[in-house]
Amino acid sequence: LADGPLKGKRVVVTSGPTHEPIDPVRYIANRSSGAQGTALAEALRDLGAAVVFVTGPAVAARPAGVEVIEVETAVEMRAAVLGALPADAAVFAAAVADWRVENAAASKMKKIAGKLPALSFTENPDILAEVAQLRDGRPGLVVGFAAETDDVVAHASAKRQRKGCDWIVANDVRPETGIMGGSENAVVLITEGGAEEWPRMGKRDVAARLAMRVAEALSGA
Ligand code: C5P
Repeated sequence: LADGPLKGKRVVVTSGPTHEPIDPVRYIANRSSGAQGTALAEALRDLGAAVVFVTGPAVAARPAGVEVIEVETAVEMRAAVLGALPADAAVFAAAVADWRVENAAASKMKKIAGKLPALSFTENPDILAEVAQLRDGRPGLVVGFAAETDDVVAHASAKRQRKGCDWIVANDVRPETGIMGGSENAVVLITEGGAEEWPRMGKRDVAARLAMRVAEALSGA
């Protein structure tokens, strides 16, 4: 482990999309690449943290020098995160599917001419909210991400309150920003103290800056 301000600290990071099966060969997913979560795990590692990286099936390469736990679904991600606690901090960068298919088929659904399948959905667990509201073993710092397309600060501030987390890193994912799947990010950090707008920068720079803030928070600065 690197020497640095996070030496001796354990940080759980979630990253990537989740895949929610329809049947054994089909699934529902989203466009998350895992780039921001991976960069964050690397930045926290570089400051000396012991990082547990819980990732869905992301296209981004896995970070080196961290404990990697691969999951597919939101339900699996929840179990992996709870199993990785206790931790000093938890950062939820994953784009977890809100819903899963309730009537997923155990064997491949057959194509039948003139007949369409009907999927029904059920809500996935909200991992961030659950961890942020733990009575026992809540990490000292719980950070969520919020992908928003309008009224970024208002929606993200409301989300921070609703979920009970300490910080929300909000980003504007309107397609014209090129942020989702791109190499840059423009974020607003929402804390108890208010909203801080960061300039647009590379996802690695966002990660480095956020990791520094995590280190400050955990050292009580
Ligand atoms: O509610 P929304 O999905 O916009 O909140 C985003 C934040 O919540 C992210 O930090 C995401 O990782 C986390 N989240 C979660 N479990 C879910 C949904 C979102 O941990 N089921």
